[in-house]
Amino acid sequence: MFSTLVVTILIFNLAVNEGSFVNLINDDNDQLKPEYTINSTCRNSLECSGKLLCLDGNCQCVADLTWNGTNCITRKAAKQECSKTEDCQPSLSCFRQICQCPSSDFWNGSICTLRKTVNSTCYSYPECKESLECKEDICQCRENDYWDGSYCVIKKLPGMKCSAQFECRTELPCFDGTCNCPDIEFLKEHKCLPNLPSECQDIDIDTDGVYSVYPKGKTSSRRISVYCIIMGKQKWTVIQRRYDGSVDFYRSLSEYIKGFGRVDKEHWLGLDNIHRLSIDGTHELSVVLEDWEGQKSEANYSKFKVYSGNSYSLDISGYSGTAGDSLHYSNGYSFYTFDRDYGDCAKRNTGAFWFQSGECYRSNLNGKYNGTGQAGVYWNTFGPNHSLKSSIMMIRRR
Ligand SMILES: *[C@@H]1O[C@H](CO)[C@@H](O)[C@H](O)[C@H]1NC(C)=O
Ligand SMILES: *[C@@H]1O[C@H](CO)[C@@H](O)[C@H](O)[C@H]1NC(C)=O
Ligand SMILES: *[C@@H]1O[C@H](CO)[C@@H](O)[C@H](O)[C@H]1NC(C)=O
Ligand SMILES: *[C@@H]1O[C@H](CO)[C@@H](O)[C@H](O)[C@H]1NC(C)=O
Ligand SMILES: *[C@@H]1O[C@H](CO)[C@@H](O)[C@H](O)[C@H]1NC(C)=O
Ligand SMILES: *[C@@H]1O[C@H](CO)[C@@H](O)[C@H](O)[C@H]1NC(C)=O
Ligand SMILES: *[C@@H]1O[C@H](CO)[C@@H](O)[C@H](O)[C@H]1NC(C)=O
Repeated sequence: MFSTLVVTILIFNLAVNEGSFVNLINDDNDQLKPEYTINSTCRNSLECSGKLLCLDGNCQCVADLTWNGTNCITRKAAKQECSKTEDCQPSLSCFRQICQCPSSDFWNGSICTLRKTVNSTCYSYPECKESLECKEDICQCRENDYWDGSYCVIKKLPGMKCSAQFECRTELPCFDGTCNCPDIEFLKEHKCLPNLPSECQDIDIDTDGVYSVYPKGKTSSRRISVYCIIMGKQKWTVIQRRYDGSVDFYRSLSEYIKGFGRVDKEHWLGLDNIHRLSIDGTHELSVVLEDWEGQKSEANYSKFKVYSGNSYSLDISGYSGTAGDSLHYSNGYSFYTFDRDYGDCAKRNTGAFWFQSGECYRSNLNGKYNGTGQAGVYWNTFGPNHSLKSSIMMIRRR
């Protein structure tokens, strides 16, 4: 009895020293049975062969080892070859015969760990989520990409919709929901084109005629055709021209906004285009008039601007010239047409202009061609009852 207890304590000590917590107490006069292999029922580990241990009544490999058919062998680490997931260390899967983490994870040296999202600290590329790079120890997108909340996606081209600056290519401001070209450049088919002329004085020309210009808008630029007039060394952009009555100027507001007529003949450039031209720097206006007797005169203004919004109001000052200042009366007033009239000024005088209360106007250059008196192409200071033969309104950047 005494000697049995000593043996038991000795065996128990041996088991503890080996780090195994398996019950090795030998209650019978048992012998080792080497044929006890994987999954054989057992009562203690001495019955099991090789490195197998008796766990829960079966011969098994301990957790970090696996059965290769003949032996308990060490499980394989990430990137090692395998034939099944059990060959690999815990948390790894055997995929394409390689032990690896699922794509959402990376191997940190001992376990698969969830990959990190944008702006997390990192030490190497695989720590960051798919599509992110580890740059300067931070998970971030490539230079031409931005983080859309779950992935890095390519930054947007000019003209594409955006909700924040970082969505657009670096040089493009996100303005009004669109990735825009920088101020000095023009948008065309998702490209920013530099140095396009925005008005006649930007073009290298020496004869009057029709040319393409690209007035700058707040969000984009578009090509329009304009008539350019050269006077001395100055190149003017025509915004209104009449000389033979071939075009009807009694039109609705939407037509006045868009523009109408023929750019090489009688023409109204359109309030929207006039606005876009006039806000790009400070502009001056020259009004050139001629009556049926061949008498010419002009009214020049050092400042001319048409605001946008609904009203397209007129901002004008700095008169000089020979025709007299008949436009000042309209300064600060909105543009009216028969379908958005003011005191019936447009309807009563078959016109469309910057009208105010009282006399409506002192100039009515869009009035009826050959209309009688003030209802005609009219400039009060030229002659109080004159319907003029021709009128040109043209502008240039100062
Ligand atoms: C041992 O038993 C486990 C659980 O029943 C089983 O998954 C495994 O395939 C068996 N191993 C062998 C070599 O038969
Ligand atoms: C199992 O592993 C042992 C030890 O590494 C090796 O000798 C034996 O050939 C392996 N058996 C198989 C079937 O791969
Ligand atoms: C891997 O991750 C585990 C769990 O977060 C951690 O305990 C261990 O220290 C990590 N290993 C390395 C090498 O960073
Ligand atoms: C990442 O960090 C940058 C710079 O600090 C910051 O502007 C950005 O909003 C951050 N992104 C996210 C998704 O938190
Ligand atoms: C306008 O009046 C002039 C001179 O009376 C005339 O020659 C011309 O044909 C008229 N034009 C139109 C469009 O009525
Ligand atoms: C008005 O402008 C026109 C066009 O440039 C010019 O020919 C004319 O001399 C100017 N008149 C005055 C008085 O400045
Ligand atoms: C202007 O013309 C109208 C109508 O043609 C005429 O009744 C009026 O007397 C004229 N006024 C002047 C000052 O010529």
